[in-house]
Amino acid sequence: MRILFIGDIVGRSGRTALSSRLPGLITEWKLDLVVVNGENAAGGFGITEAIYNEFIDAGADAVTLGNHSWDQREALVFIERAPRLIRPLNYPAGTPGRGAAMIEAKNGARALVINAMARIFMDPLDDPFAAIDRELAACPLGEGADAIVVDFHGEATSEKQAMGCFCDGRASLVVGTHTHVPTADHRILPARTAFISDVGMTGDFDSVIGMNKDEPLNRFLRKIATSRFEPASGPATLCGLAVETDAKGLAGKVAPVRLGGGLEEARPGFWP
Ligand code: FE2
Repeated sequence: MRILFIGDIVGRSGRTALSSRLPGLITEWKLDLVVVNGENAAGGFGITEAIYNEFIDAGADAVTLGNHSWDQREALVFIERAPRLIRPLNYPAGTPGRGAAMIEAKNGARALVINAMARIFMDPLDDPFAAIDRELAACPLGEGADAIVVDFHGEATSEKQAMGCFCDGRASLVVGTHTHVPTADHRILPARTAFISDVGMTGDFDSVIGMNKDEPLNRFLRKIATSRFEPASGPATLCGLAVETDAKGLAGKVAPVRLGGGLEEARPGFWP
């Protein structure tokens, strides 16, 4: 199965990159499953129903979230009628929406998509390891699902790598999101789960993690907020991770994807 995970879409620049490139990539690379992190899609903060629909129309099979899940308040309501929108699993009981969903892939396969939030330098949510363990135990890879995708949204590399080890052999891929900077440690772990500490953003890299440079710089220099954070509006780099799985749902190939914008281009050589 051919899976593409696309990192955090930031603002209009990121949305434009996704909608202009994704339909072509699905055809060119014969993708079976596309998962997109959309928690920064609406002006950098949260997601609206219109944007969610735009992502699905562009070919995303599932959209994951993170610490900005509810920045657009409408998400608390429309998530209930958006079956492919997945918020962190380890929010308190009673939180709207779902933290994991069984998604029908483009090839008809069953893909379990899980989103969870890390806790180091993040909100103190429920234990993400215990929460993910319950999901994986309830739905063994190769039996309950043909592929399992884990989006682990967090700041600390150590916590994200620990989650990769924790899920090794039980998920097809574990992808770190949230820092907006792609790491170079994409690899297949010993029990054949594909992993990257952070997949990076789909946004304008002439920025401070996707935001126009002026206000972040001002806050570092003066410690006084003078305006809102606004997404940078230059051309975006689409950052992702390409993974090919076998009949058991385990990873056989992994490669970084970087297209457009200011970063050096990377494409999966195994999907010519
Ligand atoms: Fe985030």
